[in-house]
Amino acid sequence: MPFPDKKTFRKALATLAFFVVMPAYSEDPRQFVRLTPQAQETLRQEMLDNLMALVEILSLIAEDKFREAGILAEERLGRGAMGKNARLPFDARPGPQMPAEMHRIGIEGHFAASEFARAAIAGDKQGALAKLPAVLGQCVACHAAFRTR
Ligand code: HEC
Repeated sequence: MPFPDKKTFRKALATLAFFVVMPAYSEDPRQFVRLTPQAQETLRQEMLDNLMALVEILSLIAEDKFREAGILAEERLGRGAMGKNARLPFDARPGPQMPAEMHRIGIEGHFAASEFARAAIAGDKQGALAKLPAVLGQCVACHAAFRTR
């Protein structure tokens, strides 16, 4: 399978075009979610780590190191990355402050990353590549539907 496949690439382009064109409309269609400033900061740090993790995962894939990519994906994006904020004071935890649908997309993202990880660690390269668009798909789904600022 070519990577990224054409369909996924076209979807990404369409999403990008949507955001570029958006300023022409006065209404931002994304739902505004009010998080405490502390929760916003927790989320922002997580997001920056998400992006770095993705780059590291893609670099490992490019080097044909699927097992390492899988381990990293599980720890940083997958189920292994869930529940880290439970120790924080409530005000600093973004999860419980999110609307149910937003929270669900976040959890689906963790599950998608774990599915990629499982295939990658098992050495199923084609299977792992096929699971990767769903990981990015959850990033896009949430960003396209919700905003916090
Ligand atoms: C459940 C929702 C959700 C998911 C899933 C999600 N994000 Fe975010 N992300 C946000 C919100 C909310 C912001 C804050 C910006 C805003 O309000 O529009 C943000 C901001 C960011 C930022 C900007 C950080 C900064 O310094 O301001 C990056 C980068 C980012 N996300 C990357 C990712 C990546 C990569 C993924 C997937 C692995 C991802 N996000 C998945 C909700 C999400």
